[in-house]
Amino acid sequence: MFTNKAVIPAAGLGTRFLPATKAQPKEMIPIVDKPAIQYVVEEAVAAGLTDVLIVTGRNKRALEDHFDRAFELEAELARTGKTELLQQVQAITTLAHVHFVRQGQALGLGHAVGHAHHHIGDNFFAVLLGDDIVVHDNHLLARMITTSERHETSVVAVQEVSDDDLDRYGIVDAVADPNDPESLIVRDLAEKPGKAKARSHLGIIGRYVLSPSIFDYIAATKPGRGGEIQLTDALNAQAHDAPMRAIRFTGRRYDVGAKADALRASVELAASRADLGAEFKSFLRDFVAAMNDETL
Ligand code: G1P
Repeated sequence: MFTNKAVIPAAGLGTRFLPATKAQPKEMIPIVDKPAIQYVVEEAVAAGLTDVLIVTGRNKRALEDHFDRAFELEAELARTGKTELLQQVQAITTLAHVHFVRQGQALGLGHAVGHAHHHIGDNFFAVLLGDDIVVHDNHLLARMITTSERHETSVVAVQEVSDDDLDRYGIVDAVADPNDPESLIVRDLAEKPGKAKARSHLGIIGRYVLSPSIFDYIAATKPGRGGEIQLTDALNAQAHDAPMRAIRFTGRRYDVGAKADALRASVELAASRADLGAEFKSFLRDFVAAMNDETL
């Protein structure tokens, strides 16, 4: 049975974003004016997943505080009549039922997802990576859930990646299904195989809908690439025993755990904001014009 539960692994060390991540998780890096993880929780809620389990590591306090009430701040905003800000701050707390579990040792993505077993039980659930932000997504997660329900399988989201990125993503070998143009049939998955070994250019992006049997496969998964217990390896074992599906994602996504992508995400999201967009785009036009002049 499918539940309304989403799991967000957020226990990485965030070394690609140092020094900002020295004392806070990378998922708290602000993109415009919201931490990355809030976009991800909002995406889960938009797909009907209102129970969110965040798997944390060290420095989890900021994440917990962000989704908790902030009485002093709320009282001050109320006293000074800043009603709109007060509503924004309070809305975060009522967005979803947010739970936390601590990973202890950071032994890999599969290991992190394994920590959700007790909370999820024997149900299908979604996994959203906490540093992947998806935009223009054409309801990706809702489509994945529908496909999972239709075929009673795990579903991974994939995107065409370049040769150079074949060692940055889990790569999925999948074929078209004449009976369902919406999804692909997965044959094999490999974690960051690189150009020499990759069987396709379909890279896994950080969205999954998983059958609960994944917990058994995770428990049986030995450390793989980088000495970590990889979710991709557990999925590969599952895919060899039972049908699995992939859905193509054609929107844009940002890996905001990396500095360059976080900057791109900030620019795109700020430009599309009703309150900031006009002023920011005017700045960008001037900035680009000045940059072009300099290179002439
Ligand atoms: C993880 C997964 C990988 C996936 C990627 C998507 O890797 O292990 O299969 O393609 O997320 O962002 P990470 O980026 O955590 O190294």
